[in-house]
Amino acid sequence: TEVIIVKNQDEAGKIYAQRVARLIEQKPDCVLGLATGSSPLAAYHQLAALVKAESIDVSQVRGFALDEYAGLDPQHPQSYKSTINRTVVEPLGLDPDKIHVPNGDLSTIKDAGTMYDEAIEAAGGIDIQILGIGTDGHIGFNEPGSSLASGTRIKTLTEQTRIDNARFFDDDINQVPTHCITQGIGTILKARHLVLLAFGSGKAEAIAETVEGGISSFCPASALQLHRRATVIVDEAAASRLR
Ligand code: F6R
Repeated sequence: TEVIIVKNQDEAGKIYAQRVARLIEQKPDCVLGLATGSSPLAAYHQLAALVKAESIDVSQVRGFALDEYAGLDPQHPQSYKSTINRTVVEPLGLDPDKIHVPNGDLSTIKDAGTMYDEAIEAAGGIDIQILGIGTDGHIGFNEPGSSLASGTRIKTLTEQTRIDNARFFDDDINQVPTHCITQGIGTILKARHLVLLAFGSGKAEAIAETVEGGISSFCPASALQLHRRATVIVDEAAASRLR
């Protein structure tokens, strides 16, 4: 695993942005793996700035998000569909029809995971997957205990994750969905390049476990060690537990 220690989120964002910009030049219809959460925001911001500065044509770029709440209207402002639109599709000027988010509709969710993995495969696979990490080592909504070979599927959200995310739902845990649909760890590992971003001391333990711990479902992100091209970009605080 390649570890890059940066001064701040903007510096990390610039590294991601450069890699994606060069990819788009080589492959205008490249496939980006997208994440929600706070960690990738500076990266999206830097990419949007670079796309503008270099007038890069992004009209053919395709994308697949990591996860979505189950049973939440995609129009809801906190759905990941809405979030990806707001934070990625609009600022970068991507074609919304080319950007996919797992379908959390309860009536079709049983098959939605398999269909999503098939859609990724049909697109030729993900070229660069951006990832954040939870303090417990989760990636996507793959909480500790998730199979390292898993495909996209429905999962129950842990109580802790629902408490953490209540801030996006009027601080009312009852409004937080109980389930989600998430790319599996096996799905994530199929991407050709993984870029995991983590900032702040709260992530230090999870980063040490991910990079230097044993490969184990207790720290789902440790599966990155199985990948031939995984890059972990962290600030000093998130790197502070690395040996
Ligand atoms: C986001 C996702 C999550 C987050 C993780 C870290 O789509 O699947 O795994 O990446 O919870 O969140 P932040 O970046 O907000 O600390």
